[in-house]
Amino acid sequence: MSNFLRACRGEPVDRIPVWFMRQAGRSLPEYRKARAGVPMLEACRRPDLVVEITLQPVRRYGVDAAIFFSDIVVPLHAVGVPIDIKPGVGPVLDAPIRSRADLAALRRPEPDDLAPIDQAVRGVVSSLPPDVPLIGFAGAPFTLASYLIEGGPSRHHERTKALMHSDPDLWHDLLARVGDISADFLRTQIRAGARAVQLFDSWAGALSAADYRRFVLPHSAAVLSALAGLDVPRIHFGVGTSEFLGSMADAGADMVGVDWRLPLDEAARRAPGKALQGNLDPALLLADWPVVEREVHRIIEEGRAAPGHVFNLGHGVLPATDPEMLARVTDTVHSVTP
Ligand code: CP3
Repeated sequence: MSNFLRACRGEPVDRIPVWFMRQAGRSLPEYRKARAGVPMLEACRRPDLVVEITLQPVRRYGVDAAIFFSDIVVPLHAVGVPIDIKPGVGPVLDAPIRSRADLAALRRPEPDDLAPIDQAVRGVVSSLPPDVPLIGFAGAPFTLASYLIEGGPSRHHERTKALMHSDPDLWHDLLARVGDISADFLRTQIRAGARAVQLFDSWAGALSAADYRRFVLPHSAAVLSALAGLDVPRIHFGVGTSEFLGSMADAGADMVGVDWRLPLDEAARRAPGKALQGNLDPALLLADWPVVEREVHRIIEEGRAAPGHVFNLGHGVLPATDPEMLARVTDTVHSVTP
């Protein structure tokens, strides 16, 4: 079994595995070339492009896992939600979902809706070196619901929080539907050959610990438990969620992703028994190499407190990152004795 999958399961490794969130993307010239003139959601529906872009960072860096090139809003788009991805902005929709009548837009995907995903995953898996597993992914219910309710990216998530507290019944029905769609998206990727999955709750850090437990945790737990029998490790990641990392761990994933705010040894205390993924601050990749090198070694030492450690960033690769930095980080992680 690959080092990546062993680390996810908390089993011994012969080198520390590493991959980077957003490793396929705007910091790579070969990515910009492949994407030229193709809108993001169209690229996600073209298996030839998805295969090429997913493989680019594997070729360039020799990372231990590939992440499927897609987006968290792809399954919503696939069931007809009128959502688009604006360059430099993110997902936007003209008609936000804020009432019970609006829920009708959130139907469950039919197999045909996800056929391009199935085909692209199969293409990726057959093109990857056999020892490099593919990570499938989906957006967690809260992060997706925030885009749907706000109509786009949001700094304060104010309409989302207002709906959550004003109409808890509608809130729970909305999150349950979004969770079903994410679970179907993940199941499609697993059936087509993804060997691990990551559930991204990127914006959950906007919540209090109490609201997270009451309004979000049950829905993320439902998505993760829908995959329990499929024998793939599940990673659960959030940004700014240190305050309730233990609750995120309770959602049931095998591995918890940690941002740069919390050292991994402290994360291991807050999420006992869980393998950990993280947590180099992506902004530091713009600093001088000796700074980055020192950080990589610190993180590896702190990661020894967890039953398993997959090296990663604390959030996605920033567009201004020099790919050479990621190459050096990969080589440095691989050079350390586990
Ligand atoms: O390399 C990878 O990690 C795989 C591909 C991937 C993308 N989006 C491609 C993408 C993954 C795993 C995602 C997940 C995603 N999408 C998340 C969770 C991860 C995170 O970063 O917190 C979120 C919140 C989204 C929503 C979204 N989609 C945002 C915020 C953006 C960026 C907007 C921008 O341009 O700054 C997108 C668009 C997007 N998704 C791009 C890529 C490569 C950029 C599109 C482009 O190049 O035109």
